[in-house]
Amino acid sequence: MKTIRVNLKNSCHEILIGRGLLSVAGRFLLKKGYAGKAALITNNIVDRLYGDKIARSLEESGFTVTRMIIQDGEQQKSLDSAIHLYKELQKIHADRKTLILAVGGGVIGDLAGFVAATYLRGLPLIHIPTTLLAQFDSSIGGKVAVHLGQVKNVIGTFYNPDMVISDIDTFYSLPAGIVIDGLSEIIKHAVIRDGSFFNYLASNINKIKSLDKEVMEQIVYTSAEIKLSIVKKDEHDYGLRNILNLGHTLGHAVETASDFKVSHGSAVAIGMMGAAKISNRMNLFSGSDLERLEDLLKRAGLPVTLPDLNKDRIMEAIHYDKKIAKGTIRFILPVKIGKVIISDSVPREIIDQVLANWN
Ligand code: NAD
Ligand code: GLY
Repeated sequence: MKTIRVNLKNSCHEILIGRGLLSVAGRFLLKKGYAGKAALITNNIVDRLYGDKIARSLEESGFTVTRMIIQDGEQQKSLDSAIHLYKELQKIHADRKTLILAVGGGVIGDLAGFVAATYLRGLPLIHIPTTLLAQFDSSIGGKVAVHLGQVKNVIGTFYNPDMVISDIDTFYSLPAGIVIDGLSEIIKHAVIRDGSFFNYLASNINKIKSLDKEVMEQIVYTSAEIKLSIVKKDEHDYGLRNILNLGHTLGHAVETASDFKVSHGSAVAIGMMGAAKISNRMNLFSGSDLERLEDLLKRAGLPVTLPDLNKDRIMEAIHYDKKIAKGTIRFILPVKIGKVIISDSVPREIIDQVLANWN
C-alpha cells in the first residue's frame, strides 16, 4: 500500500492507495478516531458490487451504517439528488460527527462531497473512489459540485475529505471504456508535469491495459501526486490550476458538437492532440514530441483524429466557452512533454488551420 500525506492550507489528510482496502476500511477509520454513524452514499451499480463489503467492514469496527443509494448517471449530480440525500440524513438524525462515505466514481464523489460540505455546515467526508479517474483526479483537490440544468458543476464549493481510500481492486469490475477514458487524463497529467512519467506510461502501456496491479498502483500514485503538486500552489483555481484543463478547450467543443456521443476521455485525447498541433504550428512544441503523444494515445486505445463533425459547430462551442471565460479563448499548450503554458492569445487562423488540416 502507498500513502500520500496531503498538507493543504485548511486540510491535512491521507490518501491510501492499494489492494484489498475495502474490506479493512472500517479498521482504518477506527484507528483515525472515527466512530458512530456512517452514511454510505453510492449508486445502484457500485452498491451491488461493493456495498456489502464496505458496510460489513465498518460494522465489524462498530459503526452504524446506513446506505443511501441513488441511481447511476451523470444527471444525478443535481440539487434534487442533494435534497433527497439531506432528507435521508435527517431521517437518521445525522449530527456533525456522522461520517459521509462517498463510494463510487466522480459523480458520487462530487455529489456526496457537496452534501457533506453543506449539511449542518460540514460533515466529515471519506472518499472511497472506485473508478480510475476518481482515484487520481476527482477525489483530490476538494472540488465538489452539482449541475444546474444543462450547466455543469455550477453549484459547488471546495471541501476536502478527511481521508481517501483508493482500492485498485475495484478496477477489475470497470467496463474497459471507463478505464481507457481515465487513462486519457493520466496521460494528460504526464504531459502537463512529468516527462519521465510519460516515458513510464509509454513503456508500460500494455501492462496498464491488462490492469497489472503493481503498475496500476504506481500510476494512480504518481498521477495523484502530480495533481496535488498543482493544487497545493493554487487550491482555489485562480491561475495555475487551469493547466489541468489541457485538452479541454477543444475537448469540450468536440463533446458538445457530437451531442455527447464522444466520451469525455476521448474528447480530452482529441483536445490534447489539437492543443499539441496548435503549439507545433506556433513553433512551441516539437514534431517529435507531437509524434510521441500521438503514439501513446493511440496505443492506449484513444482517438487522435478529429471525428466527422461540423467544424462550425466546434468553433461555435469554443466561442460559447469564450463568453463564459470573460472573452478569451484559453488554450493550455504543451511546450515539451512534461511542461505546458497557459495562452489566451492563440490566433484564430491557427485554430482554423489545425481543424482544416487535421486528418
Ligand atoms: P462515473 O462516476 O459516472 O462512473 C463511471 C461509471 O462507472 C458509472 O456508470 C458508475 O456507476 C460505474 N462504476 C463506478 N465504479 C465502478 C466499478 N468499480 N465497477 C463497475 N462500474 C463502476 O464517472 P467518472 O469518470 O468516475 O467521473 C466523472 C465525473 O467526475 C464527472 O461528473 C466530472 O465532472 C467529475 N470530475 C470531478 C473532478 C473534481 O475535481 N471534483 C475532476 C474530474 C472529474
Ligand atoms: N479536474 C480539474 C481540477 O480539479 O481542477
